[in-house]
Amino acid sequence: MTETGANHIPMWLLAELTYACPLQCPYCSNPLQLPASRKKELSTEQWLSVMKQARALGAVQLGFSGGEPLVRQDFQELLEAAVGMGFYCNLITSAVGLTDEKVQAFKQAGLSHIQISFQGSDETTNNTFGASNSFHHKMDMTRSVIRHGIPLGLNFVLHRQNMHQVTAFLELALSLGAEFVELANTQYYAWALHNRDQLMPSREQLAEAEAATNRFKEKHGDKMRVFFVAPDYFHDRPKKCSNGWGTTFLTVTPEGEVLPCQSAKVLPGLTFPSVKDQDLKSIWRESELFNRFRGTDWMQEPCASCPEKEQDLGGCRCQAYLLTGDPYATDPVCSLSPKRHLVDEAIAAASQDQQQHNIDETRPLLFRNPRNAKQFQ
Ligand code: SF4
Ligand code: FES
Repeated sequence: MTETGANHIPMWLLAELTYACPLQCPYCSNPLQLPASRKKELSTEQWLSVMKQARALGAVQLGFSGGEPLVRQDFQELLEAAVGMGFYCNLITSAVGLTDEKVQAFKQAGLSHIQISFQGSDETTNNTFGASNSFHHKMDMTRSVIRHGIPLGLNFVLHRQNMHQVTAFLELALSLGAEFVELANTQYYAWALHNRDQLMPSREQLAEAEAATNRFKEKHGDKMRVFFVAPDYFHDRPKKCSNGWGTTFLTVTPEGEVLPCQSAKVLPGLTFPSVKDQDLKSIWRESELFNRFRGTDWMQEPCASCPEKEQDLGGCRCQAYLLTGDPYATDPVCSLSPKRHLVDEAIAAASQDQQQHNIDETRPLLFRNPRNAKQFQ
């Protein structure tokens, strides 16, 4: 059966309220180009309309994300409206810009969940990789969220320069009272792909981090849920990205473009529909963008005749394009891909780099800020 938008409900709306952010993380999955100004961002009224349309299509989960969503002065208004529409609302934040008063107001408005990201388990590491003086504020805000009774998850993005801190971070999260922790290995898209050689861990580092996570789980049982999200480069099958193109997720960018995944704008030859000139229902169901990689009809070999094609839908289109230059290619993470060597070479280069260089000194990380972004304009 040919897949169409009518076969699926966009259960998840990711509202990327702004790409502006007070941090400068080198592993950011936001685009390389930073907006010159925030004037083109959707207005409050436009966001309210987007949420209403998404709800009418069946969306039930709403993630407020960015950039840093708290940069938007209308966040409280958007939250109250979303709760009123019946969304389960999740705020994904660095905690920079959060205050105890805001946490209290978010609780009263009905915020369902907060996710706070940390860049390291101690002040020096956190502040180095976020390029900000935010560690103690994050700790304070974590305590505030718990005090006000909003379910809290902590997110720690792992790369080879902080991976040794897994146990320390889990102990910190447990002592703070987090409900769950996501140890998310960097995924190499957009800004992060630019820093891949300096961020990619070796197989040994990854194995040790996973073993440390398992030791922590054995020691502490179910006091806190822990998820270890391994980087797909180290698997032999790709992930079913976004649960399948155009099946579940709807991302709306700060300027109103509607995407099937957060990185889709890297793909060439596509036009990106906007809520500024089209309704969400027609974008989801009929747009060329959402139908381009729905289902399996678009596949070429080896995916087209693969018995596993329904399981992973050929992997991630953005990763396939970024690594091979062909958005229709099999995701090179797959061991059946003729381009798997590209992934193996990147892993080998990462291990070799670590043996031969002090990476920090020889090839500095490129932090995400307007000055560094100029080279990509
Ligand atoms: Fe999945 Fe394609 Fe690999 Fe088969 S060949 S396992 S469909 S990525
Ligand atoms: Fe775009 Fe995977 S991130 S398809």
